[in-house]
Amino acid sequence: MSETHQPENPGHGADSAPTTETQYAPPPGTEVHVYDGIVEHDNFLPRWWLGIIYGTIAFSIGYYGYYELGGGPSLREEYAVAMKQLDAAKAAAGSGAADGSASGSGSGSASGLGGDEEAVLVAWASSTDHVNQGKVVYDAKCAVCHGKAGEGGIGPNLTDDFWLHGAKHAQIAATIRNGVNDKGMPPWGAVLSNDEFKSTVVFVRSLHGTNPPNAKGPQGEKAAF
Ligand code: HEC
Repeated sequence: MSETHQPENPGHGADSAPTTETQYAPPPGTEVHVYDGIVEHDNFLPRWWLGIIYGTIAFSIGYYGYYELGGGPSLREEYAVAMKQLDAAKAAAGSGAADGSASGSGSGSASGLGGDEEAVLVAWASSTDHVNQGKVVYDAKCAVCHGKAGEGGIGPNLTDDFWLHGAKHAQIAATIRNGVNDKGMPPWGAVLSNDEFKSTVVFVRSLHGTNPPNAKGPQGEKAAF
């Protein structure tokens, strides 16, 4: 520490800023080892550093005691518990949606309506408010591909008797929920709220037989309604 570093000093070549006395001044009398101009000091370890090492030691004792000796759950057991919770949550979400309009908040996702989907949707279709809500969603998200009046475009005509994936409410719901990925129909189940989803299905279904101008030719089978 008594000498000034030379920039060309071998062993310090990579260190472009030379160390000076003003940057670091160790307490006098703590040198324990000097070799080739390098001075080693016996400094106290910083408290934060000691805190970390003693903390990890204390943690490892508690961890080992709980998981290895004290019968704490294994990773497999924790996984099994988490999967049970997931199943319970899924079951709860399914039955919550099954009561349809009664849940009313519209906050749930449309992952599944539960129960008799066809009946839930047919009941939903009886309200013009729902059909109108569906039109709002349709205009914003579907008309680009299916045409403003459902006459078809990139996607098929939604007004005629011919359907690729079925024209029953529940079949339309399944197509809209899951999409047809490799044919360019996006999945909407995770995008729309439960209410929006049901309304969109019943609006699409209400387009049947409307005979809009410039309708796209038939695709798929003559469907049962
Ligand atoms: C990016 C374009 C695109 C958008 C946006 C789109 N669709 Fe589609 N849709 C398609 C295509 C393409 C198909 C045909 C899939 C196939 O060939 O199997 C399709 C098929 C369908 C079908 C099945 C038709 C049948 O004949 O069985 C329904 C129902 C449908 N879409 C409803 C919707 C609704 C509702 C929305 C909006 C929430 C929507 N689509 C948004 C492209 C789109």
